[in-house]
Amino acid sequence: MSISDIFDDMSYGEATESAADAFAWITDQGSRFGHFIDGAMTAPGETFDSRNPATGEVLAHLSQATQADVDAAVKAARRAQPAWEKAGGATRARVLYAIARLLQKHSRLFATLETLDNGKPIREARDIDVPLAQRHFYYHAGMAQLMASELPDARALGVCGQVIPWNFPLLMLAWKVAPALAMGNTVVLKPAEYTSLTALLFADICRQAGVPKGVVNIVTGDGAVGEMIVNADVDKIAFTGSTAVGRRIREATAGSGKALTLELGGKSPYIVFDDADIDSAVEGLVDAIWFNQGQVCCAGSRLLVHEPIADLFHAKLRARMDKLRVGSPLDKSIDVGAIVDPKQLDTIRALVGANTAGHTHVAACDMPETGSFYPPTLITGLYPADTLMQEEIFGPVLVSTTFRTPAEAVEIANNTRYGLAASVWSENINLALDTAPKLAAGIVWINGTNMMDAAAGFGGVRESGFGREGGWEGLAAYTKPKATPRKLSQPGAMTGDGAPADGIDRTAKLYIGGKQARPDGGYSRPVWGKGGALLGHASLANRKDVRNAVEAAHAAKGWSKTTGHLRAQILYYLAENLAVRGGEFADRLNAMRGGKTGAREVEASLDALFTAAAWADKYDGQVHGVPIRGVALAVKEPVGVIGVLCPAEAPLLGLIATAAPAIAMGNRVIAHASEPFPLAATDFVQVLETSDVPAGVLNILTGAQADTADTLARHMDVDAVWSFGDPSLDAVIEEGSATNLKRSWVQNGAGVDWEKFDTRHVLQQATEVKNIWIPYGE
Ligand code: NAI
Repeated sequence: MSISDIFDDMSYGEATESAADAFAWITDQGSRFGHFIDGAMTAPGETFDSRNPATGEVLAHLSQATQADVDAAVKAARRAQPAWEKAGGATRARVLYAIARLLQKHSRLFATLETLDNGKPIREARDIDVPLAQRHFYYHAGMAQLMASELPDARALGVCGQVIPWNFPLLMLAWKVAPALAMGNTVVLKPAEYTSLTALLFADICRQAGVPKGVVNIVTGDGAVGEMIVNADVDKIAFTGSTAVGRRIREATAGSGKALTLELGGKSPYIVFDDADIDSAVEGLVDAIWFNQGQVCCAGSRLLVHEPIADLFHAKLRARMDKLRVGSPLDKSIDVGAIVDPKQLDTIRALVGANTAGHTHVAACDMPETGSFYPPTLITGLYPADTLMQEEIFGPVLVSTTFRTPAEAVEIANNTRYGLAASVWSENINLALDTAPKLAAGIVWINGTNMMDAAAGFGGVRESGFGREGGWEGLAAYTKPKATPRKLSQPGAMTGDGAPADGIDRTAKLYIGGKQARPDGGYSRPVWGKGGALLGHASLANRKDVRNAVEAAHAAKGWSKTTGHLRAQILYYLAENLAVRGGEFADRLNAMRGGKTGAREVEASLDALFTAAAWADKYDGQVHGVPIRGVALAVKEPVGVIGVLCPAEAPLLGLIATAAPAIAMGNRVIAHASEPFPLAATDFVQVLETSDVPAGVLNILTGAQADTADTLARHMDVDAVWSFGDPSLDAVIEEGSATNLKRSWVQNGAGVDWEKFDTRHVLQQATEVKNIWIPYGE
């Protein structure tokens, strides 16, 4: 065919990328792979096949790791960790730069191998997966370099177990390995069973880059191997994958002292207002839901379109879908490649097949006759409660509904158990920026979609998991404070048998919704002072009281929308009111505990309250420079409703140093007071009552923390639980938090030096970072 024939005909011509180098690499390795442990590949063990989903052909034989393999990998990582940390950030930076450069040098090989193994279009592997993986190593090389000066109080966690999914095999590896190594950790990583080849090629890169033996270990196999890593002697688990497995990992690690971050599923809304640039929004959808065959945790899989433009928008979208090309992933002109595995294809078919609601449009494109492919699909006219509007399909299937007002758009968008990402399309900057803060999501793209960068934290809220990957905030997940933890002091309650000196019954009530409330169970317990004097009675809260407090905290949601300036004023005033009664509080503390430290604790409590007030309007976010025509605004938002089990020691300071910063950030708090010395907290109620803190913002319970911990942890309307109390409750809290995957913060048996307690630790736990990507600049 001549060139002029081609111009006349304008028929489609394939442009296939050669996979010869990728096949040659596999053959070079003998097509059978062991694991990468302690700097060397092990001999293959019992193997399973890794296939090309586009053709079904076997690419390689991978080893299913045994317990002994996992143990050996963890041991190697443990051995290597101290020297890697001690080597210093500058040394680690050079190694990470070397990895980045080698990834760049071999980017074509990585891209073709990824496409063969995963089925994603070569265009995406070449232009997105591999460059972003390189960027991650470059960025974190810089973080290693800056660690000593910028994070002087932070040190490595130790050995990190990392379990990653199959949708972005190399990129997810980079997201996990780069920050861990930068901060001085060593890793044991398990790629997904469908897609391990680029991780094994990465092992080769580690050797070339001079990564010391044992710093990176890679074991292959299925979920059973993942479970072995979760249960191994590691200091942290970082997981990306399904919410179901994330929940199991939360339960399995409960009470183990292991740090945990979970990046889970999503059902991200894609909101198109009637004033949007419709053609751009349609084009954006191609990237939102058909990028990587929709196998993207933050895929814009739920289209919410403004009613006045719905018909026009859907018509344009159908026309665009019909033009998408589905076919050989190695073809550089293909839009939609193969689904990762026939099993995943069956899941998509089953979910869509069971749907009878709405109207289904299947793209009128040619489909390959063999291989694991699914056509781009649009289902319109669904209701927000329909299964397909709620369940993650993880395939090239877009579901759609309409809305009438911006408020309704937000309501439908947030009507999901997930909270990963959202896209907002409007030419009206006021409307777009008014909508972004109202969306329950870790990431919001304005007039864009699926943008990711190492400089901007990625991660979600609700059942999309917790923790961020990337940016400064991502480093928190791979570090811990340098300071040696203090020994936990757990003083017990005083005992006695006397009557009150003045014969008056003083039973302190609970404080719920701005009112003193009798406990549901009607029980109280005596509080004795030093020397056996009866100081009063404290109510015993039960699970019903917890539920009432949660309801009250929810009713106070307006607090989260107030300004930092207002919250600061209210906290200053609260501090002033406490100061006026300082002497009384000091006497109470001394009476409950004995000794003479009361005045000092009151002074420290006042300082903590003034400090929280000071931070209320200063704990700002950041503007991340990302390499696109835009910026990512990292905005700090309140977590929501936080349950706090206060420490036994420091009955006043422990309450104020934790609850006040949480309130300062706009959260509502349910604090369970010091168990042995509850009267400082119940006295504080009187101070609260004379302040301007709105009802429901701070609720105070007393009694046995073991009676409320589980209910707080399992409550679906509580967003985080912190414990400074009895370490035996850590497991209860972490396991219970798996219900709605709320954040938990336990001290793993360590004590806190309350007088030197750094408010910034609390502020970090009390906020979620939302990255709002906005177009900006040229
Ligand atoms: P998965 O969550 O089972 O797999 C992810 C990784 O976890 C793999 O490496 C797997 O071997 C490992 N794993 C499985 N069970 C484990 C366990 N008990 N303990 C430790 N590790 C374990 O995901 P799967 O089954 O491959 O896909 C199912 C669904 O999960 C998808 O349809 C999609 O909805 C969701 N998914 C979400 C991803 C995301 O990026 N958020 C990525 C992959 C899947």
